[in-house]
Amino acid sequence: MWFSKPRSIPETEVPFFDWTSEDHSVGVSVFDKDHQRLAALMSQIHTTLQAKHDRDLAKKLMETLIHETQAHFDHEESVMMNVDYYEREAHAAEHAALIQQAKAMLQKVHGGGVSALALPNFLKTWLIAHIQTMDRKYSACMRRNGLR
Ligand SMILES: [Fe+2]
Ligand SMILES: [Fe+2]
Repeated sequence: MWFSKPRSIPETEVPFFDWTSEDHSVGVSVFDKDHQRLAALMSQIHTTLQAKHDRDLAKKLMETLIHETQAHFDHEESVMMNVDYYEREAHAAEHAALIQQAKAMLQKVHGGGVSALALPNFLKTWLIAHIQTMDRKYSACMRRNGLR
């Protein structure tokens, strides 16, 4: 064989969510900063479970994540209102659904019926898709209104 097969990387070593401008920027710096902070919290939850096996700390971090995500959503919704963003109702409805999903997941974790991998797996898709689709859609409207 002329080349060696790439070593498969164990799940614990895979970077959880590397925020990059190219993949995740929504073109409004205050919201990019929020998203980076939320991404860092999600990565911390992943590390706490996978490397430290500390479920109690992971639960506390998950509570913080839900709290900070709600504050971020409130901020986005107030700016969407100010700039009269056409899709703000659908956007706010998705925010509410995401918070409900996260709370339901936290309940399951508290109940003990969730594996250490299930929470990071949930978080991998939970908010990122929303940032890359719904949040990116508001970019043009906000930038037209002077936000950067
Ligand atoms: Fe967002
Ligand atoms: Fe959003």
